[in-house]
Amino acid sequence: MSMLRSVVLGCGSYLPERVLCNAELARTVDTSDEWIVQRTGIRQRHIAAPCEVTSALAIAAARAALADAKIDPQSIDLIVLATSTPDYTFPATAVTVQATLGITRGAAFDLQAVCSGFVYAMATVDGMLRTGAFKRALVIGAETFSRILNWNDRTTCVLFGDGAGALVVEAQTQPGARTDRGILTTHLRSDGRHRSKLYVDGGPSSTQTVGQVRMEGRAVFKHAVAMITDVVEDAFKVAGITANDIDWFVPHQANKRIIDDSAEKLGIAAEKVVTTVDQHGNTSAASIPLALDVAIKDGRIKRGDLILMEAMGGGFTWGSALVRW
Ligand code: UT7
Repeated sequence: MSMLRSVVLGCGSYLPERVLCNAELARTVDTSDEWIVQRTGIRQRHIAAPCEVTSALAIAAARAALADAKIDPQSIDLIVLATSTPDYTFPATAVTVQATLGITRGAAFDLQAVCSGFVYAMATVDGMLRTGAFKRALVIGAETFSRILNWNDRTTCVLFGDGAGALVVEAQTQPGARTDRGILTTHLRSDGRHRSKLYVDGGPSSTQTVGQVRMEGRAVFKHAVAMITDVVEDAFKVAGITANDIDWFVPHQANKRIIDDSAEKLGIAAEKVVTTVDQHGNTSAASIPLALDVAIKDGRIKRGDLILMEAMGGGFTWGSALVRW
């Protein structure tokens, strides 16, 4: 029986020009390239210029995705922007993207699920497109985490970077089979009991300040692999597939050890794992679309491939999305 699916038409990304490598960081904070590479796999990260706000990164990524899809921005009627580092407390950064692209119809809003934001945004857009109420969406992950880091705290400042990635997604009628193109299944979870393990210590209603990232890294690490595998196994079950059916595993890029352990536990072959954490660091909601764009542009991801995305982060939140490209 035919059904509406959310099919990806194009992908784009943007990274700020400035690259901050581990050796440079080690000159200002008590760390070393060796420690960072060994514990995280990160070698460098991009840092937004002082004048570059999250919407600027998001707009650049959105323009690249629209160009890749070869569609006019005017045909977009939904923008969902996942970020924890909005330009302002309100309005949503998504409406700045909307206005700058000259879009005056439809809906635009931000979504906050920290590092799981992109998977949450994919699930949200998929639900909204499949109601038939919206036709074409921009799904964006954009972050300027450099603005909420304590640059004297070596346990957090070495981990994160700035960037943005975007997908153009369209509602299309598909045959309703496992071979359909589009988002096949999404699975979202959260458990707020863990909210103090990874958080920002400020906000409009509490401190009236922006705040800075605080993390119990070891505690987050301890939960990450189990949560990731749990939600991926749910996706496998619902889609009726196994790890062998996956063409590319595009995980949230927080730590190479978490990525490798998750892939191994799930039985996903190492050569199917897309890893960009070495080049980008952890860009929170932007990490998955940034990684997707790398693997598309270098020719790995092709139309018809089955892509598994997953993420885990503050909250805790976690989730998976299975997409036929
Ligand atoms: O994207 C959202 C989810 N976030 C994550 O997934 C992050 C999850 N956590 C992690 O990736 C890891 O826990 C970290 C990379 C943050 C830390 O790695 P770890 O192997 O868990 O190290 P640790 O926190 O247990 O620290 C080990 C040692 C400590 O020293 P002592 O107490 O053993 O003397 C730290 O003080 O490493 C020290 N340390 C550092 N040393 C040099 C912590 N940060 C640094 C640093 N450079 N940057």
